[in-house]
Amino acid sequence: MSRESSRLILGIWRIGDWGLSPAEVARLVEGCLDLGIDTFDLADIYHGYQCEAMFGSALRTSPGLRSRMKLISKCGIALVAPDRPMHRVKHYDTSRKHIVASAENSLAQLGVEQLDLLLIHRPDPLMEADEVARAFADLKGAGKVAAFGVSNFQPHQVNLLQSRLDQPLVANQMEVSLLHTDALFDGSLDQAQQLRIMPQAWSPLGGGRLAREPGDSTLGRVLARLGQELDATPEQVAIAWLLLHPAQIHPLLGTGRLARVRAMVKAQDLVLDRQAWFELLEAALGREVP
Ligand SMILES: NC(=O)c1ccc[n+]([C@@H]2O[C@H](COP(=O)([O-])OP(=O)(O)OC[C@H]3O[C@@H](n4cnc5c(N)ncnc54)[C@H](OP(=O)(O)O)[C@@H]3O)[C@@H](O)[C@H]2O)c1
Repeated sequence: MSRESSRLILGIWRIGDWGLSPAEVARLVEGCLDLGIDTFDLADIYHGYQCEAMFGSALRTSPGLRSRMKLISKCGIALVAPDRPMHRVKHYDTSRKHIVASAENSLAQLGVEQLDLLLIHRPDPLMEADEVARAFADLKGAGKVAAFGVSNFQPHQVNLLQSRLDQPLVANQMEVSLLHTDALFDGSLDQAQQLRIMPQAWSPLGGGRLAREPGDSTLGRVLARLGQELDATPEQVAIAWLLLHPAQIHPLLGTGRLARVRAMVKAQDLVLDRQAWFELLEAALGREVP
């Protein structure tokens, strides 16, 4: 089965848990591309700063892949890790020097010439928006990054950074799922719709909990019942719930199994009606809307 394009993105955060060889990761990527999923989400820090090198090894086994895909990476978090002996404490660094060095390192690890999208991973209380703007302009001018966005930014933080940029922020990656509904009410998804910023939903299955523990909770029961009515699994219903939102949410799948990716692609064809959407929201919140 192949589709024109998909709103789903494959997240590579858990690559260290997948137990896949580089050739197997390349086959997973190939399978995603065949399903219309052409965007892959990484970050400098994932898997103790090893994720990009592992994904890069996969790309090197199949050089034709790069031209068919879009690559997202992130920067701005500094972890205490064996690979970074100079870090004494976990911190954020959105200095020009760190952003540029991190992006250049991402390119080297991945073995590619350009990132399609670079995100500032988390809001940094010491962020100087003018300095971030200079870093973005330098990276874009050098052809190293095509577009920029943020992650986990509240609307006022998006506004601050955007006010100093000469190019639009194109994405805000945020936690959104039936287990984490804040973005529906804190202005994040309203702003995404208003400014046409792509909202990317991380942990859309709550890190797997919505698939593994449908269990006895009210939410689990509603997901299971709607799934029966729609001939779908609870996790397909959970993804369809995100896709119905008018801000055009792009869910980031965290699985390393192509069969599960394929099942999630089918969620794009599920039609939840408005009342089913609110029934799920009510179950998620534990109360009806006011
Ligand atoms: N910007 C940020 O701050 C931020 C933070 C966290 C994550 N992210 C991004 O978001 C991506 C997705 O996050 P996530 O991994 O938490 O997403 P998720 O899709 O909610 O969770 C993925 C987990 O669920 C399991 N799972 C999926 N379908 C399942 C099923 N049918 N039955 C049982 N288990 C199932 C997967 O295991 P299997 O592999 O065994 O299928 C995996 O362990 C990450 O890869 C990363 O790119 C961004």
